[in-house]
Amino acid sequence: MNNTPKKLLVTGGAGYIGSVCAARLVESGYEVVVLDDLSTGHADAVPDGCRFVEGDAAETAASLLAEGFDGVLHFAAKSLVGESMQYPAKYWNGNVLVSLQLLEAMRKHGTPRLVFSSTAAVYGQPDEVPIAESAPTRPTNTYGATKLAIDHAITSYAAAHGLAAASLRYFNVAGAYGRFGERHTTETHLIPIVLQVPAGDRQQVQIYGDDYPTEDGTCVRDYIHVTDLADAHLLALEHTTPGAHRIYNLGNGTGFSNKHVVDTCRAVTGHPIPAVTADRRGGDPAVLVASSERARTELGWKPERANLDDMVADAWAFTQSRQPA
Ligand code: UFG
Repeated sequence: MNNTPKKLLVTGGAGYIGSVCAARLVESGYEVVVLDDLSTGHADAVPDGCRFVEGDAAETAASLLAEGFDGVLHFAAKSLVGESMQYPAKYWNGNVLVSLQLLEAMRKHGTPRLVFSSTAAVYGQPDEVPIAESAPTRPTNTYGATKLAIDHAITSYAAAHGLAAASLRYFNVAGAYGRFGERHTTETHLIPIVLQVPAGDRQQVQIYGDDYPTEDGTCVRDYIHVTDLADAHLLALEHTTPGAHRIYNLGNGTGFSNKHVVDTCRAVTGHPIPAVTADRRGGDPAVLVASSERARTELGWKPERANLDDMVADAWAFTQSRQPA
């Protein structure tokens, strides 16, 4: 019997990571249906070659799954940490409730595989870095708590119903893939914010805190190129096993300080990018670096664009491509 997945549902496939992943899936020969409610995604980010359905990852997904799918890649989510603390119901409903309905629809229609977008935020403040999958999960924000709750639900579905599942816990995702890149209406992430200065949309950047116990006093994060992340999804999908829920941390295993990120953006864009130090942002751990050993050994995953310069250069090319001529 040919057990290779063929027809896939990609929820959130009009968003940043979902669109890059959908594009790579199409290039790899999969039949891809993108489902997105366009609350934060963009219709023009749906890759060519995908069928696009506008709708939610609960009811609309359930009716689509009745067609018969080999797997779901579930990206659709609310993902702003600050907002999750202010409006928790939006996250418990939009992330947990929707995902539970999706899991139930998958069970009902016999959809065998799931790859889920989890997050480093499930770990909270780490006791040690690099962070392995066995680290304690103590999320410090509602966003991380909702993703962890979904991870637990997936584990139950794998055990009880034979779902073949993988959760990928992303660290800091950066870069772009051609016309697919990061363009959030509410931007909170460091690299796109810094690039708004050379793009002419912002005067200066604020660096939140320079008194952390790190080499230069600013927070350290582990950046992973969005195409390397997308490739990990394809590998995880192909390695899923019925009845098992595997969890993988995805980062480069290398940390870059916020100051280093700003310096890299200056070097790549040739713009001085004025930066000022501001107060610490609440809830920021000093250092977040992933151990991706498990993804490397079990999936044979290896980041191809682990260099921060490449990530910034790709993000900058994307930013420039969207500027008026
Ligand atoms: N930062 C600034 N100035 C800014 C924006 C960010 O100094 O204008 C700093 C932050 O304080 C932090 C670093 O840049 O020290 C990175 O911040 P991001 O918001 O880009 O990313 P986070 O590390 O906070 O968040 C990422 C993911 C989240 C996930 C989290 C896990 O984007 O989805 O990692 O901890 F929850």
